[in-house]
Amino acid sequence: MNDAELKSTLTINNTAIRAEFPILSRKVNGRNLVYLDNAASSQKPKAVIDTIVNYYTNEHSNVHRGVHFLSQLATDKFEEARKKLAHFLNAAETREVIFTKGTTDSINLIANSIGKTLKKGDEVLITEMEHHSNIVPWQMAANERGAKLIVAKVNDDGSLNLDDFYNKLSSKTRIASVVHISNALGTVNPVRELAKAAHEKGALLLVDGAQSAHHMKIDVRDLDCDFYAGSGHKMYGPTGIGFLYGKASLLEKLEPYQGGGEMIAQVTFEKTTYNELPFKFEAGTPNIEGAIGLAAAIDFINTIGMDRISTIEKQLLKYAHNRLGEIEGIRFIGTAKEKAGVVSFLVDDIHPYDIGAIIDKLGVAVRTGHHCTQPLMDKFGIPGTVRASFAVYNTFEDIDILVESVKRAVNMLRK
Ligand code: ALA
Repeated sequence: MNDAELKSTLTINNTAIRAEFPILSRKVNGRNLVYLDNAASSQKPKAVIDTIVNYYTNEHSNVHRGVHFLSQLATDKFEEARKKLAHFLNAAETREVIFTKGTTDSINLIANSIGKTLKKGDEVLITEMEHHSNIVPWQMAANERGAKLIVAKVNDDGSLNLDDFYNKLSSKTRIASVVHISNALGTVNPVRELAKAAHEKGALLLVDGAQSAHHMKIDVRDLDCDFYAGSGHKMYGPTGIGFLYGKASLLEKLEPYQGGGEMIAQVTFEKTTYNELPFKFEAGTPNIEGAIGLAAAIDFINTIGMDRISTIEKQLLKYAHNRLGEIEGIRFIGTAKEKAGVVSFLVDDIHPYDIGAIIDKLGVAVRTGHHCTQPLMDKFGIPGTVRASFAVYNTFEDIDILVESVKRAVNMLRK
């Protein structure tokens, strides 16, 4: 199918959605901005920006600490945000949702709390496609306790080698921690099946949802994962806010990650008893505007509908693969059948940074480099990739400009 034929089969009608994002109408290097770095961070709709401005203009105070009007108001808004997030994830109970700084913070929380219970010889299973944030915290926990980090292999197309994953699960595995959608490859992992397999061996499953919660419907009960971590800023919400979902029965048993205000029930110099869920894991003043802004982002997502978002992004992905495929010497990294949100590629032996720097001058923002997945890049024997990643506001025209810009860069850089 040629480009014109493909384009005629695709319709995304997202002009009105796009208009909600003020930053998309700015110029970069004298050109219209083509923002294709959404896996690093998405842009923010006006509703989220306005919510944060309104919060500081009319509603700000600390939460859970005062009887005065503003403290009550801020507390109500903060706890409404938690409820909204619990509903968004289909958690069984609101107290199963803990506010964190983001996915990295959520994984560190669990690696630290579960880490305290690891024994010599225990195993933690991850995969070759994990982000550094789902490698290093487990390495630290395992090293401290004499446990072992086991790594399941990735196939050449970027899919998870399921046989290897299942073979490496054993009665020694305490927890498996797996990315839902790979930030570097776009691979969508079958986390529901992975959770089932982990549970059959008596292990827990944590899902790194940094790249999935804004691309597909997440139902933590249907996935039956034990923990699910996500970041607000990839979901059209603010930076510095994220979440950890955990089954209440498990969170109740875990030791807190950090000590301080809010997470306590009673403190004496001899002994401290801890607060109930979710506060046990939320030491210190939380990111209140972040939580309220994230709730506005969830409203934004719900108003469009996750089905429509997925449909738009699938079409963008298909079109991007088709059009980029025209470029002579292109090599896609990550061509798994189940894939979302991301196209990663190299052209000839041109360094990804060089392509990224030239197309930036043409107004096109992509991420280049190892994408915080150095072991995965080492596996493929590459220094990194050029990565274009999509959001609900991207258009076929964005992809056309990307393709023309990459062609220009390649012509300049080819020896
Ligand atoms: N993990 C983010 C990315 O993939 C920052 O770009």
